[in-house]
Amino acid sequence: MKKKIEDYLKEVEAFRAEKLEQLEQFRIEFLSKKGKIPALFNDFRNVDPTDRKEVGQLINNLKTAVQEKIVALKDQLEESTQSKGSDMDLTLPPNVTLGTRHPLSIVRNEIIEIFARIGFSVSEGPEIEDDFHNFSALNFPKDHPARDMQDTFFIEKDPDIALRTHTSSVQIRVMQSTQPPIRTVLPGRVFRNEAISARAHCIFHQVEGLCVDTDVSFADLKQTLFYFAKELFGEDTKTRFRPSYFPFTEPSAEMDISCNICGGKGCNICKYTGWVEILGCGMVDPFVLDSCNIDSKKYTGYAFGMGIERITMLKYQINDLRLFFENDLRFLEQFKSAY
Ligand code: DAH
Repeated sequence: MKKKIEDYLKEVEAFRAEKLEQLEQFRIEFLSKKGKIPALFNDFRNVDPTDRKEVGQLINNLKTAVQEKIVALKDQLEESTQSKGSDMDLTLPPNVTLGTRHPLSIVRNEIIEIFARIGFSVSEGPEIEDDFHNFSALNFPKDHPARDMQDTFFIEKDPDIALRTHTSSVQIRVMQSTQPPIRTVLPGRVFRNEAISARAHCIFHQVEGLCVDTDVSFADLKQTLFYFAKELFGEDTKTRFRPSYFPFTEPSAEMDISCNICGGKGCNICKYTGWVEILGCGMVDPFVLDSCNIDSKKYTGYAFGMGIERITMLKYQINDLRLFFENDLRFLEQFKSAY
């Protein structure tokens, strides 16, 4: 039996493998249930008691030698297949699908770009605002319904801290920190306590515009927005202004564009009127200028604010606002753009 064990040991030491399959064969030959080592342990019962200690040790040594051999060869084989990199063709072009920008980002960037061409900079402000910047400085009376819990997500009461309900709050921050001339657009996320539907969401995006200087008139506002609408929706786009009301502008207006879907003939998007509303605007109320320490006797200004979701829906004919927030790749992958 000792001779047999010694022969096995020599066999183990001499064993070489080029493939993992050969190694597996070797493992089965020695260690599987019907393999050589279990057979030796089986025969061990017949060994003379005086030899048992020595023979037992020899079998154990053999077993250890087999196990160590397997581990060592396995490491070697795996290393060599990896370094050969046999499965990899490095000359192939990389197989990466490029992501696309979110449609709201595309349209926001395009809006910013259009205004940048006529000298508007970009400013940003905080999403968490105090009462002064979101309401009071914008001339919202204390009992205005927009301050109600229905519309505003309050974080703290007395003093009131809330998620901003519009980007008009950033107008105030810009005017507090900069003396005219000011010409800037203010993009950002806004929050309102609204039930989520195809037409409304509690989170949405706006771009605000602000221009303050000496001799800024309503004609400047109209011409700027007229240019903007043509750049964004195409040369044939018509605009019209309807009187409206906002606490922070006087006079105030809403601007409609000729429906870009039916070309003004009438469809269900424009509710058969041929026009769709895209923004609110007006001349900055002197109260607002004074709240920001800008001399309302010397300076005048105009402001406007638009919802990016609404404009994106019109531009791409999307009929459900919730699609913007679901991150469904089948929707998002349809938007490819230079912006
Ligand atoms: N802040 C308004 C809103 O959220 C939009 C708006 C209207 C902004 C008129 C303006 C403006 O700057 O002049 O509905």
